[in-house]
Amino acid sequence: MTGLNDEKESARQREYIEKCREIIAERSEKSGRPLSAIVCTFGCQMNERDSEKIMGSLMEMGYERALSEEDADIIIYNTCTVRENADKRLYGRLGVCKAYKQKNKDMLIALCGCMMQEEHVVDKIRKSYPYVDVLFGTHNIFKFPELLYTRLTGNSQIIDIWKDTDEIVEDLPTRRKYSFKTGINIMYGCDNFCSYCIVPYVRGRERSRDPKEIIREAEKAAADGVVEVMLLGQNVNSYGKGLDTKVTFAELLSEIAKVDGIGRVRFMTSHPKDLSPELIQVIAENKKIARHIHLPLQSGSDRILKDMNRHYTKEQYIKLALKIREEIPDVSITSDIIVGFPGETAADVDDTIDVIEQVRFDGAFTFEYSPRTGTPAAKMKQLDKAFVQENFDRVLSTVQRISKEQAGRFEGRVMEVLIEGEDEKDASRYTGRISQNNVVHFPKMGFSLGDFVNVSLDECMGFYYNSKTASGCLTDALC
Ligand code: 5AD
Ligand code: SF4
Repeated sequence: MTGLNDEKESARQREYIEKCREIIAERSEKSGRPLSAIVCTFGCQMNERDSEKIMGSLMEMGYERALSEEDADIIIYNTCTVRENADKRLYGRLGVCKAYKQKNKDMLIALCGCMMQEEHVVDKIRKSYPYVDVLFGTHNIFKFPELLYTRLTGNSQIIDIWKDTDEIVEDLPTRRKYSFKTGINIMYGCDNFCSYCIVPYVRGRERSRDPKEIIREAEKAAADGVVEVMLLGQNVNSYGKGLDTKVTFAELLSEIAKVDGIGRVRFMTSHPKDLSPELIQVIAENKKIARHIHLPLQSGSDRILKDMNRHYTKEQYIKLALKIREEIPDVSITSDIIVGFPGETAADVDDTIDVIEQVRFDGAFTFEYSPRTGTPAAKMKQLDKAFVQENFDRVLSTVQRISKEQAGRFEGRVMEVLIEGEDEKDASRYTGRISQNNVVHFPKMGFSLGDFVNVSLDECMGFYYNSKTASGCLTDALC
């Protein structure tokens, strides 16, 4: 499907929102209570952002936010398929939903996200979960109002999945989960085809958004009170390819940091093969850009990296990470690591552990390799589970030891914290994050959510800090 024009398509979908609104109002009057909706998100920050868009449409239609799935009149599961356990979780939840539907006959269930881009998943839902009402994919999220309207005015299961798209339709309502921070998509899809990864198949080819549109979105968010933005893409370092305007990710990042009212800019995710010296320099010179780089290593073995199709060696990765540490003082480097990729030996895992020790990751997600149907690695000979578990434990304990040691390095310093919520264990305290992304708990002292404050990091508790004092706003423009 091509030739869709963002404005025209957005206007069309807004008409469907209006039509749904009338139906929801009628149903609500009949049942004598407002109808409510919940969007449950699995997986990454890109899905989180898509869910905010879906929630935006639902709220414009007149739904209120439901507190639990059981209470909701519509549940949307925004799915992830990067590893197999995410798939299993969805099927478990759908089983429970059947009982909810028996209690509330008008309740609707919609599924979207990466899992829906897989044919075998859609077949299974069609056969085994006929009570699911709407299925749509990653390329046509913007069509949700139209699909919901079709379901509300008919009675059969609606399935609309596109194989790919070159369109970007953005101008639809959105409801941010937090009033003071948000994600902004700067690109969609991925062209890297790492041999273990399903993302390029379910999210399609890489497409960058026009920088002017991105800046406009950041300005609008800032005008609404957002003070921290996270620029999102599967591989932000290759931003700009295929655009008429020549622009690099580093240039975009420094433009976003100039937006009035934005106090902190984060980004996710970087591919080591494309991270430029220009980007390191821009971060080093600009205090508004978070001192945090998530730099997935995946493996420290050259042979495995080659089979993974990652396009860098162990040595190149270490060199890059140490250069980042040298040029950006206090930077935090986090990573993703896969253990158990086909053919991985104990010596390959030793190489991975060696990188963790040399780079000293501030944190790392460690995953057991999970074969995904349709990817090259799924066809390779798989390893023995007990052997993988043993290696996984070795990697995990190294990551935990090093990141705990790393966390302690800011103890006793006063650092800028963005207040993100109430401390779950103590209502007299707040929880926030420093630029490096570490969590800090501290007394409320009259501050508000979304404030930037100076906090003394008195005591490192392993992975977070406890503080006795918070003192005054740092970012003048925001006080
Ligand atoms: N098995 C295990 N981990 C995976 N990841 C991606 N695909 C797989 C897979 N098949 C991990 C990578 C990636 C993160 C988002 O998920 O480490 O960086
Ligand atoms: Fe998957 Fe590799 Fe693309 Fe990341 S860069 S989304 S791991 S294919």
